[in-house]
Amino acid sequence: MQTFLHGRDLISDLDFSKEEVETVLDMAFDLKRKRAINELTPYLRDKVLAMLFFFSSTRTRGSFEAGMAHLGGHAAFIESRTTQISHGDTPKEIGEIFGRYFDGIAIRHVDWGLGNKYLNEVAKASRVPVLNMQCDVYHPMQCLADLMTIMEKKGRDLRKKKMVISWAYAASYQKPISVPQSLAIQMPRFGMDIVLAHPPEFKLMPEIMDQAYEQARKFNVGFEVTDDMDAAFKDADVVYPKSWGALVHTSDPEEGARIIDKYKSWITDERRMKLAKPDAIFMHPLPADRNIEVTDAVIDGPQSVVYDEAENRMHVQEAVMALTMS
Ligand code: CP
Repeated sequence: MQTFLHGRDLISDLDFSKEEVETVLDMAFDLKRKRAINELTPYLRDKVLAMLFFFSSTRTRGSFEAGMAHLGGHAAFIESRTTQISHGDTPKEIGEIFGRYFDGIAIRHVDWGLGNKYLNEVAKASRVPVLNMQCDVYHPMQCLADLMTIMEKKGRDLRKKKMVISWAYAASYQKPISVPQSLAIQMPRFGMDIVLAHPPEFKLMPEIMDQAYEQARKFNVGFEVTDDMDAAFKDADVVYPKSWGALVHTSDPEEGARIIDKYKSWITDERRMKLAKPDAIFMHPLPADRNIEVTDAVIDGPQSVVYDEAENRMHVQEAVMALTMS
């Protein structure tokens, strides 16, 4: 077991080795058990986390804030628009200065081409860990919560389980690509055979695909890509269909909307769920476009684990914070 994570950043999913992710999961399961019996876990007493948001959030803000309180510390909620960042504070200054006030800096910055760069620049200047609350490339905390949830439902040995990461149609906004990218590079390390399904215009970033294939080779699992959502769902153990934007393909939002509208049939409904194994689980990080990405019958149905995923955000993040910030 690798336990020395003190001072480490978590920006890309692969920043922690497989063994280190297992340590995070062990700790998260322990924290979840302790919370169930009201056992106190003051591992970060008097420590303070800065939560710097450039984009809205429900689960991420709530789970980090509650998590820091459970660990005996405090989380400061800072919206970028209320700061002097737009008047010139640079990432280096944020890293230097917040690194002196706080014991950890968590950042959500999903702007395409900017977010990941920003986090890395802050991390370079910071003396404390920088934690990724979602950038334009990765959403590692969501992925850890998803991994914990899959293990709760399917057991810790996931070898030979088939996981489908699928694009889905949505109309509300061009959702970030970070969730499928994190899943694609993290899940092969835990033994699952991955099928990635998307229309041709919704490819993941080439460098992410390279990393995903490399992990699949290293851990001797399957990694297939298809543009057929039905074929992907066949005999799956885990289905994870969600929308992501076409901004990798075009930077024109109108052209993006025209492309998306060709694929309105990419919805998860009861017919499609029946193609998967009878005990397959349906996953989604939320928020979902109900009855557009996924029907009410599926997301509110017996195979859906979306609330467990949301809860587990808190447990895995507490584990990451306790291990990196103590
Ligand atoms: N899943 C997720 O990150 O949710 P929020 O955008 O509400 O934080």
